[in-house]
Amino acid sequence: MLFLSKKEVPLKEIIPDGYVDIHSHLLPGIDDGVKTIYQSAYILEQFENLGIKKIITTPHVIQQVWPNSSKIITEKLEKLKRVLPSLGISKIELQASAEYMMDDLFYQRIKDNDILPLHKNYLLVEMSTFSAPINLNEILFEIKLAGYIPILAHPERYTFYQNDLKKYDELKESGFLFQLNLLSFSGYYGDQIKAFAKKLVDHDYIDFTGSDVHNYHQLGILQKGFSSKMAEKITTLMNKNKVFA
Ligand SMILES: [Fe+2]
Repeated sequence: MLFLSKKEVPLKEIIPDGYVDIHSHLLPGIDDGVKTIYQSAYILEQFENLGIKKIITTPHVIQQVWPNSSKIITEKLEKLKRVLPSLGISKIELQASAEYMMDDLFYQRIKDNDILPLHKNYLLVEMSTFSAPINLNEILFEIKLAGYIPILAHPERYTFYQNDLKKYDELKESGFLFQLNLLSFSGYYGDQIKAFAKKLVDHDYIDFTGSDVHNYHQLGILQKGFSSKMAEKITTLMNKNKVFA
């Protein structure tokens, strides 16, 4: 009997040179990501070993839970960067932006131009996984008026759109770019999201990728890599992040 190999290719072999990760929660204690500087440093060290060139880490900014100010994020980044060399982490570039929930606080921040862009005029935004904001068009209008390009984090996770590609066409046409979570390909969020992630990739909806790593557990899953069938496709996709270098 012939057994087909289902071997996983480790992430280290899939990651292209110069990869920039644009989605993670690695500033300690300000959201549901890492809790200590030690945890940040460990994950950054692993990322460095994977050959990642730069991390733009993106703590949550959510009005009801983590209303992090630009100042808090910047201070946390500086504090972390001060200790990294003494822990032997010196190659990987570390920057901070935010993953902005498109809520009333974000709407106000956009109007006040109190924003930490991801890179140039790109912004990482998210919606609740239960429903889209009722004033989505109004928020998008303000984003564009302020001169930013919104990148929607993990479009594959908004199950309320019921995997309807027409909804995603509308979002694209209205000006959103899409950032897929690599963890979705690992099945971390379930088989349905994994299948939809593949569909979005196969139909060329995805502009960028991100790890969205919050903790050691997710890092471990990511490091295992992906099926050999998908490996090449994922490398091609990851190459698109070079615009953030
Ligand atoms: Fe995130």
